[in-house]
Amino acid sequence: MAENNLVIKNGIRHVAIIMDGNGRWAKQRGLSRIEGHKAGAKAIEKVLKAADKHSIEYITLYAFSTENWKRPKNEVTGLMGLLKEFLEINTKILHEKETRLRAIGRISDLPFSTRQVLDKSINDTSQYTKRQLILALSYGGRAEIIDGVKKIAEDYKNGKIKEKNINEELFRNYLYAPDIPDPELMIRTSGEFRLSNFLLWQLSYSEFYITETLWPDFDENEFTKAIESYYLRNRRYGGV
Ligand code: IPE
Ligand code: IPE
Ligand code: MG
Repeated sequence: MAENNLVIKNGIRHVAIIMDGNGRWAKQRGLSRIEGHKAGAKAIEKVLKAADKHSIEYITLYAFSTENWKRPKNEVTGLMGLLKEFLEINTKILHEKETRLRAIGRISDLPFSTRQVLDKSINDTSQYTKRQLILALSYGGRAEIIDGVKKIAEDYKNGKIKEKNINEELFRNYLYAPDIPDPELMIRTSGEFRLSNFLLWQLSYSEFYITETLWPDFDENEFTKAIESYYLRNRRYGGV
């Protein structure tokens, strides 16, 4: 019984993933970086199935950062094309798994045709409440905070909010997806120990799991290992 209580208390609702290592995976095989990204897109399907098995309600995937725009033009174009392809292939799975698709980031930066497909998948799955897949696209944690601050300034100017009411709870309402609970667990593949501007506000108290496995090799088994590791953590939140 005690164990059950523990699981409920520390249960995982939201897993955020920095999908890193596609380029190194391709290099090891003498393939182009785009081939690596293609293999990476396939890994997402495996992880969605695993998340479903573990009854995870929210999965956030870091797919393209505000910094990734500085990559060579052909890689950026390739990634945008792959995103479209991913959505076209996977919207069916989203329907099967009753999963709502959402996007966070400076979405207006994306090419028009990518945005069209993205908007369609988002609209077509908006009725689902069981699970959510959140794609971080042209996403930066600092950009999200700055975008929030700008909206707060506007609402302050228009008299909608008072200075004395600005606190953490209010600020949260100005994030890209305020209703989504903070991730309990953040996974990063390919062994890098950094946040790379991912969910700065939301990851304040999340548990981190870093694996050497490159993203295209990440699978159901790896996902389960990350979840199991989470359950061994002692989350103190500054207490004793
Ligand atoms: C992650 O793989 C995918 C994106 C950032 C879009 P990388 O492309 O960063 O792969 P590495 O880090 O070069 O191996
Ligand atoms: C983080 O990976 C961004 C995504 C996975 C989309 P990067 O490969 O861009 O991060 P750095 O360059 O190693 O910090
Ligand atoms: Mg990388």
